[in-house]
Amino acid sequence: MSIIEKAASKLNQQASIKPEPIETGIPPVETPAQEVRPATPDTSESQRHELNLVKLKNQNIITPQAEHSNMAEEFRMIKRPLLDNAFVQNGPKVRNGNLIMVTSSLPGEGKTFCTINLAMSIAMEMGRTVLLVDADAPNPNMLKTLGVSYDRGLLDLLDDSSLKLSDVIIRTNIENLSILPAGRRNRNATELLASDAMSALLDDMAQRYPDRIILFDSPPLLVTSEASVLASHMGQIVMVVEAEKTPQPAVRQALTLIEDCELTWVLLNKARNLAGVDYYGYGYYGQS
Ligand SMILES: Nc1ncnc2c1ncn2[C@@H]1O[C@H](COP(=O)(O)OP(=O)(O)O)[C@@H](O)[C@H]1O
Ligand SMILES: [Mg+2]
Repeated sequence: MSIIEKAASKLNQQASIKPEPIETGIPPVETPAQEVRPATPDTSESQRHELNLVKLKNQNIITPQAEHSNMAEEFRMIKRPLLDNAFVQNGPKVRNGNLIMVTSSLPGEGKTFCTINLAMSIAMEMGRTVLLVDADAPNPNMLKTLGVSYDRGLLDLLDDSSLKLSDVIIRTNIENLSILPAGRRNRNATELLASDAMSALLDDMAQRYPDRIILFDSPPLLVTSEASVLASHMGQIVMVVEAEKTPQPAVRQALTLIEDCELTWVLLNKARNLAGVDYYGYGYYGQS
């Protein structure tokens, strides 16, 4: 059975069943108890950017004014299991479950589009805050889509120990949404993303704000090594697959690069609806 077929067959079982770790053949990893440090605000001196919500809506991005659109409804369903696993009330907790990376096998499958919509959808939820991180250093399109133009970001933070997170985070007019840009082009981007400083930063982000979702837009897995490096730090991964386009071997190969992640979700993007009418929606969303 192909990965997509296997995923599709799980769809019917999804609603009532608590997700299980992906079948890697490797025994499940024990989740170590985590020390949660008291939260100290890191955005007090941050810059602020006014997002143009009308422009975003015209690009099919969910905004508070389009809360009842089809897109908003679809992302409501997509975010639910992610939030459930990020903030487990009972049962085993996913390590750094609030660190969620959106990736895909190849470029153009919809990573940036889905990451931004997911972030918007979560930010509009009561009591949830989101930090949207552009971790696609080779192709940092997230800010362009959002109409934001700041140059400093994640790579600068990793490269310059005098910078604090609050120096590079951008707050927005969507109260619960902040942005961390990719930062200035850096020849050592892969090394920086794989550095101890990055591990420390991610653990700090995950644990200092246990009630915040940190969502990473990432490069495609089969094109650069950066996405698989990042994946090793994530509690959950959303793997975007472009319907009727991404070759199955590419999906299969990409999934092997992230098989150590406890929770991997497959999002079939740009699917047609059952009547075969063109429809940029989501045919399937579930665990791989
Ligand atoms: N579900 C969707 N509905 C409408 N447009 C989409 C959808 N998914 C992706 N797109 C569009 O497809 C193009 C490629 O998507 P993008 O998110 O930039 O891909 P990636 O980040 O994976 O390279 C963009 O123009 C984006 O707006
Ligand atoms: Mg992108």
